[in-house]
Amino acid sequence: MQMNRILNSLAVGALVAGLTTSGCGDGSSPPAADAQATAAVRAAARELSPGVAPERAVKTFMDVLNELRTVPALAPLFENFRVPRPVAIEGSTGVVPLLGVVKITRDREGNVTITNRETGGVIFSAPLTDLASGVFHAENLPAAVTPPTACTYAYSDWSACQPDGTQTRTVISSSPDGCTGTPVLTQSCTYGQPPVTCSSFTYSDWDACQPDGTQTRTVLTSSPEGCTGGSPELSQPCTYTPPATCTSFTYSDWSACQSDGTQTRTVLTSSPEGCTGGSPVLSQACTYTPPAVECTSFTYSDWSACQPDGTQTRTVLTSSPDGCTGGTPIVQQACTYTPPIDGAALYGQSCASCHGPLETSNLKGKGITVQLIKDRNMAFGLTDEQLQAIVSVIGP
Ligand code: HEC
Repeated sequence: MQMNRILNSLAVGALVAGLTTSGCGDGSSPPAADAQATAAVRAAARELSPGVAPERAVKTFMDVLNELRTVPALAPLFENFRVPRPVAIEGSTGVVPLLGVVKITRDREGNVTITNRETGGVIFSAPLTDLASGVFHAENLPAAVTPPTACTYAYSDWSACQPDGTQTRTVISSSPDGCTGTPVLTQSCTYGQPPVTCSSFTYSDWDACQPDGTQTRTVLTSSPEGCTGGSPELSQPCTYTPPATCTSFTYSDWSACQSDGTQTRTVLTSSPEGCTGGSPVLSQACTYTPPAVECTSFTYSDWSACQPDGTQTRTVLTSSPDGCTGGTPIVQQACTYTPPIDGAALYGQSCASCHGPLETSNLKGKGITVQLIKDRNMAFGLTDEQLQAIVSVIGP
């Protein structure tokens, strides 16, 4: 069917005639531009129908091009090159650059393919008899062509239902600019009897009586089916009873005590039912306890002497911020233990053999000093500290 339409299309008949009659510009466009378009179309027609007589090839090409021009997915491609619909060549040089960037071919089975000349990517392919079923690859469009976006339409109201059982509407606007899509402009409807006025209704319950002495309800269903209008009773007078004052409440738990020394709670229920107002107690004084703050800064005692286990300790003197707790003061550290010099042992090793056991040393009572020991060449390689330890244990 589509094929017949293509073959019967006469939309370009005049054009083809123009193309095949050289040198007959109509004056509305420069003959040079038309000649260029003619050459471009002839070349493209040869690509589509190799080996076919030029005039027939051009006619077939223009028919195919016109059919392709109706495919919504391809609209951005054609519109990018300002190719009108139906395709015209005279005065419309857009066809020339278009054919410069895309190639249109078909195979023996009658599938038509649009290819990006630069990348070789297939932009569109479809059986000529069913272009609507074509596969479109926006990613293969020439780089300069903006891929299509779907339109969002604003419509008029539907028209009244026509005797043919359809109603129509029009597009008021579409967006974004340059979008493609198919607006829905007709739908079926039931054309029939003139509208029937509704005579019977079902209603929601009445709302509570308002202070103005009225209450309202809404229509849930109306009949007969498809009716319009009618006079549903949606409002009636009522006697407004002001609600009683609440006298009794249940409450949420008290909130945590705030730094301003108050805590609050909310009313969960109040009675009697439907009451308003009253004097619920929603706030009370409390004692605010600031949250514990962790200590971040400390002052310390001096380190203790290094212990034989290689550690020394100190104590925290003060911590801050004020009132803080915890934290991680450093109160112990590793150290290098130096054993104290043992004067008695040193004396036993180095002096006792000549000066007798320490308890009865002949050096006692002589007020010896380190300097004296050294003066008498009695140091025997010991350090001043070791000699001092010996002096100390010997005593004055
Ligand atoms: C090999 C033996 C010998 C040893 C070991 C020795 N002394 Fe003496 N020391 C002597 C003799 C002998 C004298 C006394 C003669 C002198 O005054 O030179 C003396 C004298 C002294 C005097 C002087 C006493 C004075 O009356 O003024 C001092 C002090 C002394 N020794 C300290 C030491 C000390 C401390 C040691 C150990 C580190 C030591 N000596 C080890 C033999 C020794």
